[in-house]
Amino acid sequence: MNNFEAYNPTRIIFGKDQHHRIPELLKQHAVKTVLLAYGGGSIRKNGVYDKVMRQLDSFRVIEFGGIEANPEYTTLMKAAAIVKAEHIDFILAVGGGSVIDGIKFVAGAARYDGDPWDVLERKPGCDFKAAVPFGTVLTLPATGSEANSGAVISRSEINEKRTMGGPLFFPVFSVCDPQVVASLPARQIANGIADSYMHTLEQYLTYPTGNFLQERQAEAILSTLIEIAPKVMQNPDDYEAAANLMWCSTHALNGNLRLGVPTDWCTHMIGHELTAFYGIDHARTLAIIAPRLFENQFTNKFEKLVQYGTRVWNLKGSEQEIAQQAIRKTEIFFQELGIQTRISAYTTDTGFIAEAIKQRFIDRGWTEMGERRAITPVDVEEIVLKSI
Ligand code: NZQ
Ligand code: ZN
Repeated sequence: MNNFEAYNPTRIIFGKDQHHRIPELLKQHAVKTVLLAYGGGSIRKNGVYDKVMRQLDSFRVIEFGGIEANPEYTTLMKAAAIVKAEHIDFILAVGGGSVIDGIKFVAGAARYDGDPWDVLERKPGCDFKAAVPFGTVLTLPATGSEANSGAVISRSEINEKRTMGGPLFFPVFSVCDPQVVASLPARQIANGIADSYMHTLEQYLTYPTGNFLQERQAEAILSTLIEIAPKVMQNPDDYEAAANLMWCSTHALNGNLRLGVPTDWCTHMIGHELTAFYGIDHARTLAIIAPRLFENQFTNKFEKLVQYGTRVWNLKGSEQEIAQQAIRKTEIFFQELGIQTRISAYTTDTGFIAEAIKQRFIDRGWTEMGERRAITPVDVEEIVLKSI
C-alpha cells in the first residue's frame, strides 16, 4: 500500500428536503451577502430554486444564472466581477458539476489580482492563493464536484478545457437531495452513471498495490452502479435507486478511492479534448475513449482487468478471456445506458482529431501518462484513431 494523506473538509448533508439546514450553515460563517449561482434554468422548473430561495430570506442575495454546461471562462469572469463589486462573502452554487466547477473558479478568480487564465494555463508562479467560501446544492449526481476540490473550465473560442483545484476549493457544505434525479432527462442520468463509473475505474483499473480496502470500495461502487443503473434509468422517481446513484457518484470522486493506490486519469484528459473540440458531453467522451484505452494498455492493466472481470462482472474462463470480456462488458454497459461509444456517432468531422489531440499532449508535456507513465502521445493518437 502506498503512503497517503487524506483531507476532505466538506460537510455532506444528504437526503430528502434538507435545504432548511442552509441558513444555519451560512450563519456559522457569518455570511451577509450570498451570490446564488445556477445554470440554464432547470432549477426554476424543478422547484429547487424556490426551495433554496425560501432559506435565504435573512441574507442579501444576488443572483447569477446562465452558467453553461461545460462552464465558460468569459461567463465566469462576469460572475467574479460581481463577487468583487458587491462584496459577496459566500457563493451558493445550485446545479450540477458545471455550476459547481464554475463557482470554484469564480471563488479563486474573485480573489486574484492577475489574469486568472494564467492560473488555468499553469503559468509558472501563477496560482490562486485565496478563495471566497462557497457551498453547493447538488442537482445532478455525476462529477463528485460537490465533495472534491477540482474543477474543469472551458474556453470555447480557443477550444480549450482546463483543470484547476487545490485545498482552497472544497465546498464548505453540499446539500445532496436525491429527489432532484426525478427531474433529470435520461441523457443526464446516463451521463451521471457513466461519469461515476469512470471516476471509479480511473482509480481502480491500474495495477495491484495491496490496498485491499480501496480496491473493494471501488468494486462496491461499480457493482452498485451496475445494479441500480437499469432501475434509475427506467424510473427516475425510484428514490432508493436515485439515492444510491447520488451516494456512489459522491464516493467515486471525493478523494477516498485514490488513497494509497496509483491512478490513471488519461481517459479523462483525452475526453476533455473531445469536449473542447466537439462539445460532446463529458461522460460520453469517457465512454468513447475508455474501452480503446484499456485495449491499448491491455498488458499494463492485465492483472486488474482480470480482478475487475472476476469480481465485478462474475466472468469465468481463462485470464485472457476474462480481461478481454471485462472491456467488452464495460462498453456494453455504457451502450445500454443509451451512450454511443464511437466519435463518429457524434460528428463526421473526424479527420484532424487524433493528430490534434496528440499534438496538444506534446505541447503540454503530457508525454508519459497513465498509472505506469506508459501512455505516450503516439498511444494517445492510436487510442483516438481507434475510437473514431
Ligand atoms: O444548466 P441547467 O439548466 O441547470 O441544466 C443542466 C445542464 O443542461 C441539467 N441539469 C442539472 N440538474 C438538473 C438538470 N436538468 C434537470 N433537472 C436537474 N435536476 O443538466 C445539464 C448538464 O449539467 P452539467 O452540470 O453540465 O453536468 P455534469 O454534472 O455532468 O457536469 C459536467 C461538468 O463537470 C466536469 C465536466 O468536465 C463538465 O464540465 N467535471 C468535473 C469534475 C470535478 N469537478 O471533479 C470531474 C469530472 O470528471 C468532470 O470533468
Ligand atoms: Zn469525469
